[in-house]
This record gives sequence, C-alpha cells and structure tokens, in this order.
Amino acid sequence: MKCQHIRSSLIVTASIFLVSVAVAEQDRFTLISPNGIAFSEFKGYEGWQVISPSQIDGSIKAIVGNPVMIKAFNAGVPVNGQPVPDGAVMAKIEWSTKNNPDLPGAAKVTDALKNVGFMVKDAKPFPDTDGWGYAQFDYDAGSGTFKPLGSGPAFAKAACHQCHTRVKERDFVFTRYAQR
Ligand code: HEC
Repeated sequence: MKCQHIRSSLIVTASIFLVSVAVAEQDRFTLISPNGIAFSEFKGYEGWQVISPSQIDGSIKAIVGNPVMIKAFNAGVPVNGQPVPDGAVMAKIEWSTKNNPDLPGAAKVTDALKNVGFMVKDAKPFPDTDGWGYAQFDYDAGSGTFKPLGSGPAFAKAACHQCHTRVKERDFVFTRYAQR
C-alpha cells in the first residue's frame, strides 16, 4: 500500500516536471521578423555548410549557406559579378567567446549563443533591398528564448541592407568562401 502511494506520487511529480519543461521551451519556429520573414523559412540551418567563420572582439561567428548558396559559391558567384540565384540563403550564427576551459590560453571557444541572422535571395518580395530579405533573431541565454530584431516592416533597409551596400558589386555578400 505504502509502496503504491510512493509510486503514484512519483508519477505525479514526473508529470508536473514534464509539463513545466514543455511550457518553458520556446518554439523558435513560430517567430516572425517584423518584415514578415518567418524563422521557420530557415528550418535546417543548423546543418548547413560553412562558408567561413569570422570573429570580432568577444564574438565568433559561423557563416553558413543552404545548398543553393553553396552551389552558387562553387560556380564562382558572386565574386565573378553574377547575381546570387533566387532561393539562396545564408545564416550568420554568433556566439560570445571564452577561453577553452580545458587548456586556458590555448584557444577561444564558443560560449553562449548571441543571435542568428539570415539573408534570403528572392528578387520579387524584396524590391527595397535589392532582392535580399534580412531577418535576425536574438537569443537570450538567461531565458533560453529568441526574439526577432527590429520594428516595422521596413526596418531591414536601414538596419541591415544599408551596410551591405558596401559590397554591392558582390551582390551585397561580404563573406568569401574559405578554402579548405
Ligand atoms: C555595419 C555593417 C553591417 C550591418 C548593419 C549588418 N551587417 Fe550583415 N554583415 C556585415 C559584415 C562585415 C559581414 C561579414 C561577416 C562578418 O564579419 O560578420 C556580414 C555578414 C552577414 C551575413 C552573411 C553573408 C554575408 O554577406 O557575408 C548575413 C546573413 C548577415 N550579415 C545578415 C545581416 C542582417 C540580418 C543584418 C540586419 C539585422 C545585418 N547583417 C546588418 C556587416 C553588416
């Protein structure tokens, strides 16, 4: 009898735990950037091929591309002056850095995720930004949740594209495919 009582209270405790985990975990793919680009459009980006890493003080980034973008890079686009084809997508995944805890001083390694930014090429829906759709989702490591960056449907022109026009001659793509 006592044993059964312990067992049922264990089941109750376990169910409460499972429910609270389910409530706490955010589904990032329900988020939508203020310009209407859904996070779900980029499903699978975690597995895309690396174009190149980059770093600034305090951050390491991985710039990755979907298969359409990687195929374009392999064909010499956009360095050859040809435009990036519709359907190509790049993601920039940014982490803060810390010393490698196993051998401090040897290398900086990734710490918390900071944000994930995207560029999707689709000439028709994005006439104001030369055919590129931009979206960024900032990550808050404390709460474990993402939040879309920007406000208003036209935020990306000033917040993203204006700076990317520096490399207009490479179809607004900064990163070059790193040899490996
Ligand atoms: C002040 C300039 C600047 C602004 C503003 C900017 N970027 Fe970039 N972006 C860069 C540079 C430089 C790179 C090259 C990689 C790196 O150093 O991070 C880059 C790279 C990227 C890449 C990888 C493809 C590429 O062009 O190399 C994506 C995706 C990206 N940015 C998205 C965004 C989004 C989304 C926004 C707006 C929320 C944005 N960027 C705003 C300068 C900028």
